[in-house]
Amino acid sequence: KNEISIADLYKIQPIGREITISGWVRTFRSNRFIALNDGSTAANFQCVVDFEKFEDSLLKRITTGSCVRVKGIVTKSLGKGQPIELQVQTIEILGDSDAEKYPLQPKKHSLEFLREIAHLRPRTTTFGAIFRIRHHLAFAIHEYFNKNGFFYIHSPIITASDAEGAGEMFNVSVLDKRNIPLTENGEVDYSKDFFGKEANLTVSGQLEAELLAMGLGKVYTFGPTFRAENSNTARHLAEFWMIEPEMAFYELKDNMDLAEDFLKYIIKYALTHAADDLAILDQRLAEEEKSKPADQRSMPLLEKLKFVTENAFQRITYTEAIDILLQSPYHKKKKFQFPVEWGIDLQSEHERYLVEKHFNSPVIITDYPAAIKAFYMRLNDDGKTVRAMDILVPGIGEIVGGSQREERYDVLLSKIRQFGISEESLWWYLDTRRFGTCPHSGFGLGFERLVQFVTGMSNIRDVIPFPRTPGNCEF
Ligand code: 4AD
Ligand code: MG
Repeated sequence: KNEISIADLYKIQPIGREITISGWVRTFRSNRFIALNDGSTAANFQCVVDFEKFEDSLLKRITTGSCVRVKGIVTKSLGKGQPIELQVQTIEILGDSDAEKYPLQPKKHSLEFLREIAHLRPRTTTFGAIFRIRHHLAFAIHEYFNKNGFFYIHSPIITASDAEGAGEMFNVSVLDKRNIPLTENGEVDYSKDFFGKEANLTVSGQLEAELLAMGLGKVYTFGPTFRAENSNTARHLAEFWMIEPEMAFYELKDNMDLAEDFLKYIIKYALTHAADDLAILDQRLAEEEKSKPADQRSMPLLEKLKFVTENAFQRITYTEAIDILLQSPYHKKKKFQFPVEWGIDLQSEHERYLVEKHFNSPVIITDYPAAIKAFYMRLNDDGKTVRAMDILVPGIGEIVGGSQREERYDVLLSKIRQFGISEESLWWYLDTRRFGTCPHSGFGLGFERLVQFVTGMSNIRDVIPFPRTPGNCEF
């Protein structure tokens, strides 16, 4: 293609050469300077127009939001803002945009407003940066696993199994209801509306990943997952992407070591490959933090990311976590909304106290009570805790959930019964414990929570192009 991207243009700096670029006009100052952006990088490119050489009717169509193709000669820039610029020879309008009606004005818009125009927000500096970083993180994830002997596998989206046993599934149905069995009252049996079978959208690819790990050794999934929980929070989506590695012969400690090494690798990757975009978001966050009281401000973004890559994560058991919370001034002054005692599911306020107030570092919490974790986690010898591990990070809370899996057939079967799960529906899962079972472990990283952590965005709706939350699925 006989065109160059703005990112490459800045890299190569082909002074004296004739080039063509296309992009969206951010601003057109004094009928002379077009700030053009093509999405390849956060930086705009300055295109200098000699207005005497062009028709007024054409110049009028160069408005904020319009799409243009320009050809010209690259020169050193005399201005301060940029090293090079383009002396424009020809201008082609690819798409007009009515300046009065274009929702993105050259000023700062609130994130809430931009969420309402999710179809246009990729054209802003902030969202361009976020979505480019999202790409780099996804790429780093595949690179890490590929370098470390993992195989990328594809787990099904449509499935009958409820991997987490939490009942938070979206039902899948076919439109043609004629072939669906009827209930005793002669009504369509909606539990069987996937061609006569029950089916849901997957909540996790873990169980299938376990099957593959017990054949291929080390595998991972990276795909969309769905949770039909009606939670309207800044860290929950109904559709999110999850990365789930699963490793044969790994015990809990190996699992923790891998998760920590993996997170550090991908954050370092972003620091080197998305430095410009991170710098923009670092500045954005610093602006936002200014309006908060000094003692409530979080660490600057780049400092936080460097800290995380350079320091060991804290590792504590659930029981130790409960002790810390019970000793805390928050507990003593009754400032926690949910009272603390051994056995509770840690709430977001507890997690945030631990990572932000107590440790000020990522924390891995292990050995949770069996009753509050999924059926597949390996039971400890104490008979009441399981080999679970959650990784919590400042500003977000839980980012990773994982465990060593229960590989003993009898223990697993009694756990399944105890949790009231139908053992027939999991016959294939139980089979792997009957034939050549082995110790194995894995975890799930919520991709959007990772992107939130790396970009410093406080709302999960701002790190996925089209967030699915209760009632939000128009496009
Ligand atoms: O803790 P979860 O539910 O664990 C599992 O699904 C396991 N099967 C993972 C495994 O061991 N293979 O989810 C894992 C992670 C959470 O730590 C969180 O980061 C993310 O997925 N997550 C969500 N992200 C956005 N919106 C939601 N509704 C999420 N639910 C979980
Ligand atoms: Mg979890």
